[in-house]
Amino acid sequence: MTDKSANRMWGGRFTASPAEIMEEINTSIGFDKRLAPQDIRASKAHAAMLAEAGIIDKEDAAAIIKGLDAVAAEIDSGKLVFSRALEDVHMNVESRLKEVIGTPAGRLHTARSRNDQVATDFRLYVRERIDALDEALAGLQLALVRKAEAHAATVMPGFTHLQPAQPVTFGHHLLAYVEMLSRDRGRLADARARLNECPLGSAALAGTSFPIDRQATAKALGFDKPTDNSLDAVSDRDFVLETLAAAAICAVHLSRFAEEVVLWTTPQFGFIKLSDKFTTGSSIMPQKRNPDAAELTRAKVGRIAGAFQSLLIVMKGLPLAYSKDMQEDKEVAFDALDSLGLAVAATTGMVEDMQPQAAAMLAAAAGGYSTATDLADWLVRVLEMPFRDAHHVTGRIVAAAEAQNLALDKLSLAAMQAVEPRITADVFSILSPQNSVKSRVSHGGTAPQNVAKMASAWRKRLEKGPARG
Ligand code: ARG
Repeated sequence: MTDKSANRMWGGRFTASPAEIMEEINTSIGFDKRLAPQDIRASKAHAAMLAEAGIIDKEDAAAIIKGLDAVAAEIDSGKLVFSRALEDVHMNVESRLKEVIGTPAGRLHTARSRNDQVATDFRLYVRERIDALDEALAGLQLALVRKAEAHAATVMPGFTHLQPAQPVTFGHHLLAYVEMLSRDRGRLADARARLNECPLGSAALAGTSFPIDRQATAKALGFDKPTDNSLDAVSDRDFVLETLAAAAICAVHLSRFAEEVVLWTTPQFGFIKLSDKFTTGSSIMPQKRNPDAAELTRAKVGRIAGAFQSLLIVMKGLPLAYSKDMQEDKEVAFDALDSLGLAVAATTGMVEDMQPQAAAMLAAAAGGYSTATDLADWLVRVLEMPFRDAHHVTGRIVAAAEAQNLALDKLSLAAMQAVEPRITADVFSILSPQNSVKSRVSHGGTAPQNVAKMASAWRKRLEKGPARG
């Protein structure tokens, strides 16, 4: 006699129940219950296919499908109490189905295994999350583009080494992130294209002797085709890894923007203001306005990149085919995708909320000698100096200006001529930050006319909707 407490889904050859600690380490229902909608959707497709192929009766399939809908409703309403003893979402759903419809429930697991089941469910899940992220990222791009359009001519200092380098426009700076996010969306789209094959029907590892129709289940679940190797299908999680890698890169991009928001909102920079909606106070220092959303967005990359590392190491060296190690793929992926979704939403909120402080940006661009390159270029263009010589002359002029504590365009012509006598008053036409940005008309350069054109092209593309880009 089998011990009544042995697992009712696989306990046939068992005589006793697992040790408490065995159940503790083995159970995944606490987290994989999130896959219930995908699990039920895949089971319905499987049952319909089994009936269509004559493997189970049509009546049984109909009862199974109806029963699965009932189980789904119970889960939706929070009524179904999951059992740890039933390990995971797959067995919890099937066991409840048995309670609801009786004997036909036992036919659902024909020609499949939890191994192809979980691979299928998780692909469906990750695919949905990619689609939602893509939409959210498009929304963030649009928010950036709208701000960029409004600030195509707003001058700010551009930095290298976080030292003022050359003036750029705020719109140009924002559009840099639009480009990064576009590549992030591209990477997610690539991951999606490769994951879109259906493992269902690979069974435990070797395929099945039942005459199943894998094309039918693949099609019913929106996959492009069935996977071509049963061992591969049940034992790889590269689709999760790729998605997490793309998510980690995207999170890195968001963290860089978040860092700039942190810097820009300091009194020292003062380039933007965030409203009370995106700032928090300090419990001790009444003057503080902290950009916590930006700081947390900056930090989320830790767990997202960590998830990628974690799963990469779980998968390393695993022999084919399925091993229980792979159950560790879910929690990190759930957490990473949740975190990225949150970071994207918070960033969108901050972009919409931020009020650029044009005067402060311009003042910063005017200080810091950020038009020194323009001066060097002028010496090359007008006096036909070799660039290296022009660089040296400009350096001496900057030093002269610095000694008098003046901006470059405020230094007298005589002082410049003391360094290079051939300089004329014409030089003043290029020394202001506004004229500097106006001159950067090369493709991809920061000239306001370029930025306005780029921003409007992006806006049209993004407002058109779902096409990726
Ligand atoms: N909960 C398992 C997982 O997430 C499902 C597959 C279990 N398969 C098995 N042969 N025990 O990986």
